[in-house]
Formats: sequence, structure tokens, C-alpha cells
Amino acid sequence: MSTIYNFYAGPAVIYDEVLARAKEEFLDFAGTGMSVLEISHRAKAFDEVVAEAEANMKELMGLGDDYRVLFLQGGASTQFSMLPMNFLPQDGTADYILTGSWSEKAMKEAKKIGGVHAAFEGGENHYRHIPGQEELTFSDAPAYVHMTTNNTIYGTEFHYVPETDAPLVADMSSDILSGPVAFDRFSLIYAGAQKNLGPAGVTVVVLRKSFLEKAGDVPATMLKYATHAEKNSLYNTPPVFSVYMVNLVLRHLKSLGGLPAAAKTNAEKAKYIYDAIDSSDGFYRGHAEKESRSLMNITFTMADADLEKRFVAEAEAEGFIGLKGHRSVGGLRASVYNAMPVAGAGALADFMAEFMRKNG
Ligand SMILES: Cc1ncc(COP(=O)(O)O)c(C=O)c1O
Repeated sequence: MSTIYNFYAGPAVIYDEVLARAKEEFLDFAGTGMSVLEISHRAKAFDEVVAEAEANMKELMGLGDDYRVLFLQGGASTQFSMLPMNFLPQDGTADYILTGSWSEKAMKEAKKIGGVHAAFEGGENHYRHIPGQEELTFSDAPAYVHMTTNNTIYGTEFHYVPETDAPLVADMSSDILSGPVAFDRFSLIYAGAQKNLGPAGVTVVVLRKSFLEKAGDVPATMLKYATHAEKNSLYNTPPVFSVYMVNLVLRHLKSLGGLPAAAKTNAEKAKYIYDAIDSSDGFYRGHAEKESRSLMNITFTMADADLEKRFVAEAEAEGFIGLKGHRSVGGLRASVYNAMPVAGAGALADFMAEFMRKNG
């Protein structure tokens, strides 16, 4: 089979080395003589996986004992509800920085629980723009401020951490661990694993212990962060295989040099593709404003839908998979998460130049 480069937005590319390791130990996990799919989540071997995954996550993020890492289910979408259920009093207000569809969805869920305030609304500008600090208008003493660090659909990304006195919460589903960030500025971070952390099925929640202590009561046991924190993510049956895979990804990321190394290769990859867009004299048109560009999801359009269709079909024939843009925006999107090799981004840039030569 010729080389396939996977540009899907999620579930997405996973490191070859991680897939190979999983294959290697699929039938005999940690010398148990059983597959990881068969062992009890109460088995010691799995206990060790959860503990190691939490430790690896904290080590990569540079976080200490004042943080917990939880491995939950229900996707990032469940966090949209769980967050306000735990931290937004009925008579309180939570601020949401609206930079795309996912933050809109998050705010919509919070509104069912308490008051909300949009600290920025980017919809009028088709979510091309990430606000600067001076564009953010917070309410008085919000319960928390919520942001989406990377907007998977529109291809924009925050390149700074906003200043606020309120607890800062982030949906980092599509750029978590893509580079060093002052993670200790956040009270709570959540991310579906299926982009930068591994397979679908597990949601990683990183939260500061002192913030957790402020949670209100939640009648549904499973939707309380404290339930999972007290039981080290083993209150009920966790998605064993997904957690195991996330741990393999974290180990691999560490072996590559951690987040500084990831940031370097992610910048190289994005540069290949943005350069192909910027040097095309309008043949390819980037959706995001330049300063707001995402290093993870590169969104662009072409003169008409037929040409875009042809681009996707020809790209696929050459082994570049998953370039169709999200249905709500149209156009094209190249997702270049951590596990996309630099060669993949380079090869796509070459393909873009060649396609333009033939069709421009
Ligand atoms: C930024 C962001 N938040 C939330 C979600 C929803 O995640 P899930 O499908 O895990 O609920 C996605 C999915 O693509 C996303 O990109």
C-alpha cells in the first residue's frame, strides 16, 4: 500500500509507533496472558495504567500535586453540561468567550443551569478572529470564564492565555499537548481524546484540587467530578482500552521530547501548508485571519465548490485523506495534529502546488 496521510479532524491520526506497540501487546497485556480488552478495570495491571497516565499527563503539562487528572466518558460534549452543573450556581453567571460552534454549544448548556454572559462573540465575523485581551468584556465576578483554545471547525487558535481573576476553564479538545502552555493558569481543562491524545471513548479532565473543592452538589453521582476524583477514575467501568491507548500516546510524546518538541514540529507542519496557501495568489484562500491561525486545523476555500470537490478527490487518490471541510463551513480543512509526520504536511503542500499548476 502506498503512504496514506490522515488529515481527519477526529478521530484522527495516531503515532505509528503507538499502534505498533498496541498490536504487539494486544494478545498479552503486561504479561497477564490476556488482552487489555479482557482484563478487569480492578486488576492491578490496569490500576497501574491509570496511575501512570495521570502522572504522564501532569509531567507533560508541568503540573504538580495541586492538580488531578480524570479519565471520563461522554466526550467533550458531556463536559459542556457537567462543568456548569458542578460550578455554576443557579443565581450565578459564567462567562463564555465565543470563538466557534463548540463554544456556542458549551454556553447553550450552561444557560440551562444558570446565568451566562458572552465575553466575546465572533460569529458576525464568521469566527475568523481570536480576540485579544482588550476585546474581552467579563461580567462582575463570574463563576468561571470558559474558552475554547482551538476552534476545530473554523481553524483558529488562541496563542495566549487570557488574564482574568475568575477561574479559567478551557475546552482543549483539539490542541491539548500540542505545545507548552501555562497550564497552571487554568482551573479546569477538558479534552476528548480523539484528536491529540489517542482514540475516541475517553475524555481527559485536568482540574485544580482547590477548584474541585468549590463544586456545588450535583444530584447525578456520575456527573460529579468529585465522584471520579475520589475513586481515581475507577468509580465505574472506565473505557479501559482508550485509557490504555492514551497512556501509550503520552509515553511516546515524552520520548519525543515532550511539548517543546511537539511545538517545534507542529509549527513546521503548519508553515508548509500556510505557505502553500499564502503563495498561491488567491487560488487557496485561508479562512482564519493570519494572527488567529490554528496550528492544528488549517481551513481554506477555493474559487468554487466544484474545484474543491476535485481537489478532495484527487488528493484522496494520492493518499491524502480527510481534507473535506466541516459541513458548517465548507471548503477544505487539513488537520495536522501531533501525530501527523512533518513529511505528511510537506507532501500535502507539494500536492497543493501541483494541483494549482494544473488548475490555476
Ligand atoms: C473543540 C471541540 N470541542 C468539543 C468537541 C466535541 O467533542 P466530543 O465529540 O468528544 O463530544 C469537539 C469535537 O470535534 C471539538 O473539536
